[in-house]
Amino acid sequence: MNILIIGSGGREHAFAWKISRSPKINQLYIAPGNAGTAEFGTNIEVGVTDFPAIRTIVLEKHIHMVVVGPEVPLVEGIHDFFLADRQLRDIPVIGPASLGAQLEGSKDFAKKFMMRHHIPTAAYLSVTKENLEEGIRFMHSLKAPYVLKADGLAAGKGVLIIENLAEAEQSIREMLGGMFGQASETVVIEEFLSGIECSVFAITDGKSYKILPVAKDYKRIGEGDTGLNTGGMGAISPVPFADEVFMKKVEERIIVPTVNGLLKDSIDYKGFIFFGLISVNSEPYLIEYNVRMGDPETEAVILRLKSDLVELFEGVAQGNLSERQLDIDTASAATVMLVAGGYPGVYQKGAVISDLDKVEGSILFHSGTKVSGNEVITNGGRVIAVSSKGKDFSEALALSYRNAGVIQFKDKFFRRDLGFDLIK
Ligand code: AMP
Ligand code: GLY
Repeated sequence: MNILIIGSGGREHAFAWKISRSPKINQLYIAPGNAGTAEFGTNIEVGVTDFPAIRTIVLEKHIHMVVVGPEVPLVEGIHDFFLADRQLRDIPVIGPASLGAQLEGSKDFAKKFMMRHHIPTAAYLSVTKENLEEGIRFMHSLKAPYVLKADGLAAGKGVLIIENLAEAEQSIREMLGGMFGQASETVVIEEFLSGIECSVFAITDGKSYKILPVAKDYKRIGEGDTGLNTGGMGAISPVPFADEVFMKKVEERIIVPTVNGLLKDSIDYKGFIFFGLISVNSEPYLIEYNVRMGDPETEAVILRLKSDLVELFEGVAQGNLSERQLDIDTASAATVMLVAGGYPGVYQKGAVISDLDKVEGSILFHSGTKVSGNEVITNGGRVIAVSSKGKDFSEALALSYRNAGVIQFKDKFFRRDLGFDLIK
């Protein structure tokens, strides 16, 4: 069959790599893709929310399935767009329709969902200009630090964690005043949970689910988890503290109530669910939902997936996921992100990337690259995810670090301390 992947990052390159290995695949297209995805299919230059242009591609290229990588097209209703179009209606979209995508698109919606279905999460109150005073009183009832979240999508920047109460009050006012535009017209104030985070992924056809490999990502630019937040500097899978006992709690208390909750609420959900979890004294709490796979977690997780991903997607589309097989490699995987110097602040694009052919033993998933003449050049802050397997995460990381050192481009930077918080 012919598949179209929507997106242009490392996650989508990882999908393209995996999907291209399926015996079921005929033609693979990626919109818009990057220099890496071009090795496994045909890139088509179109924006991820340009639904009419995507429609044209789907019809012209006889696409049989659309796999949506990032959240924005999902929240903006790509799946609904397909369902509403007579010619597209029967072409499956992997990713929820906009109502389900609200689990990521609105923190307030997600919190209400968690409460309604008794899913363990931090105490919260949603605040607008109308109930600001109530919000301030709620904040006074909490202990520092104070967690403030813009309700809507804010490109990963909408969460503030503030030590000082007076500053937190000031920030709520600024958020409601438009700090994140419309996204912060509602602000979710949350109790701060102290623990260690991990990312759990499931895929669902709306009735049953399969749990994909658990991962941990590293969001800060600096070693020791310091400095600014990034799109992700690397990831490892599995996560030692997310052992069988922990994962059983996650399944019983979080995954099952979520899938059942979607059914009860009549939310037809077909796609990935990403549970952003925090372990507080070995008890899992749900910090957030995402309605897609994680990036860069996918670039590690995909290496551990032994099953045919297309086969799983067919199970999602046909509503018979429970009959499909999911095999996971017990080996570990890690990915190390090479970024452009200056990122996540000001950085340059267009640097020539060399020595990609000298990499041995790792798989490279391109994040921000493009082909220019006969060269590959940087085209984003996060450039290439260097992914490897090993008997444990230290071995997988060591291989990725070795190859991270081999690849060259001007002002290359990567974190060398991934997994530091997991070594006992
Ligand atoms: P979110 O976008 O909701 O995942 O939040 C971004 C990051 O903020 C998370 O990955 C956590 O590190 C942190 N965070 C969010 N909510 C909380 C909370 N209630 N307690 C502690 N940390 C939090
Ligand atoms: N790695 C976190 C995310 O994809 O949102």
